[in-house]
Amino acid sequence: MPSFTFVALSAAVALVGIAVYLPMQRSTTLFEGPAVVENFGMDRCQKVTGPSFCDDVRIQRNLQLGFLACDPSLPYRNFAASVYDEAKIKEDGALWVYDLKKPGTPAEKLTIKNFEGPFHPSGITFAPTSEDGTPARIVILVVNHVPLEVPRVEVLYYYPARKSLVYKKTISSEHFFAANKIAASASPMVHQYDDTPSFFVTNDHGYNLTNWKREYEEKFNLPASSIVYYNARANLAQEVAWRLQMPTAIVPYQQVDSIWIAQAKAGTVDNFNSHMLAAEHQEQRVLSVDTRQPLTIAWPGMLNEEILHTKSVTVGLDYEIDTDTIVTLSHAKWNDFVHVAKEKLNNKDGETSKNAGFVISRGNKYPVRVGETRPKPRKDIVFDVNETPRRYKYKIFIEPIISHDGSEFGSPSAIAVSQGRVLVSSHYSEGFLDCNITEEAK
Ligand SMILES: *[C@@H]1O[C@H](CO)[C@@H](O)[C@H](O)[C@H]1NC(C)=O
Ligand SMILES: *[C@@H]1O[C@H](CO)[C@@H](O)[C@H](O)[C@H]1NC(C)=O
Repeated sequence: MPSFTFVALSAAVALVGIAVYLPMQRSTTLFEGPAVVENFGMDRCQKVTGPSFCDDVRIQRNLQLGFLACDPSLPYRNFAASVYDEAKIKEDGALWVYDLKKPGTPAEKLTIKNFEGPFHPSGITFAPTSEDGTPARIVILVVNHVPLEVPRVEVLYYYPARKSLVYKKTISSEHFFAANKIAASASPMVHQYDDTPSFFVTNDHGYNLTNWKREYEEKFNLPASSIVYYNARANLAQEVAWRLQMPTAIVPYQQVDSIWIAQAKAGTVDNFNSHMLAAEHQEQRVLSVDTRQPLTIAWPGMLNEEILHTKSVTVGLDYEIDTDTIVTLSHAKWNDFVHVAKEKLNNKDGETSKNAGFVISRGNKYPVRVGETRPKPRKDIVFDVNETPRRYKYKIFIEPIISHDGSEFGSPSAIAVSQGRVLVSSHYSEGFLDCNITEEAK
């Protein structure tokens, strides 16, 4: 008869086996994606020429201007795929501007006046402007990845009338060690003299390139990344959310210091909101850098209030407040993207033996029973949440609207939405997409 120790040991071994197997199986399906990538809706997209090798695209909605961060050195520093050789980085990148009011006209490359030194742009964001009127000057913040240095944030002014981009200042922090994407906050903590907003930055990894722990983080998909908040009046940054699994996109949501983030390797899109949880831990007395007056600042207390399971490797995300529209951009098959990344590292202008497709999805709201997330409710049953407010609430489901196998355009990097249109940028495909996602267009 087996001893008690033996039985207990067998049970423990079985439990450990299951605990290891289940997450591995989950990430396998996540990375490999569906067996067949549906190809519908590409007729709703037009390919626009101009830049190549773009890491981010954002739309300034007052002016309907799209900005792209593109860099011929991007094939040598694909941090998301962990494929890089920073020694090969020579050429500088640039920002490109696209006028959504003139669909299909090529994007224009911008040079930065008064700026010297390497420029390898990643995430872009804009200081919030009033929703009415056309700003004479846009404050643009860009994450700049100088090879083998801690990334920094460049503050630039764009004058639309003259199409002129001018360097203002550089913001540095040790906490930006793996900075990737950036989202300006609508917080009143704005620099009084140069209009720099406070902002959030994602660190896509928990460790930097030269840290040996990075290898284990990659190998085991460890949730080690973080989100950093920069207070513009204190000129201080601090981590405000931790234990994230490769956040690749961040955008402001409705309230001040409220954000959506995409966690590529967790397969989720998450809403974090700031709360005052404990003033003694969050408040800090500082001397403001602008007016030199004593000032009490409050660090955001970020709570994860909504988790949407995308069941895919989501790298792009955007939210339009006016129309309450959330869109996401996912890799169809992550492993194909990593394959393409490795080939591009060796020959950035060469053909690749595989294509890396993409999926554009939209967040649609359906009433579900409180506490239930699945199964998804049948669409033909209409609940009136106002009639039965205690039993039902609206929940967002991320549903694909356009997908493509990558043969014409692939290797997706970011998405931006405005007034029923989305712009999609790519790591390796030439140009970018301008797609119509209005309901009728489906
Ligand atoms: C990266 O991390 C290592 C180990 O923590 C540190 O020694 C190194 O200075 C860091 N490099 C950069 C560029 O941050
Ligand atoms: C998008 O498609 C809809 C429906 O076909 C159409 O009414 C609308 O004009 C299109 N928008 C643009 C910007 O092309």
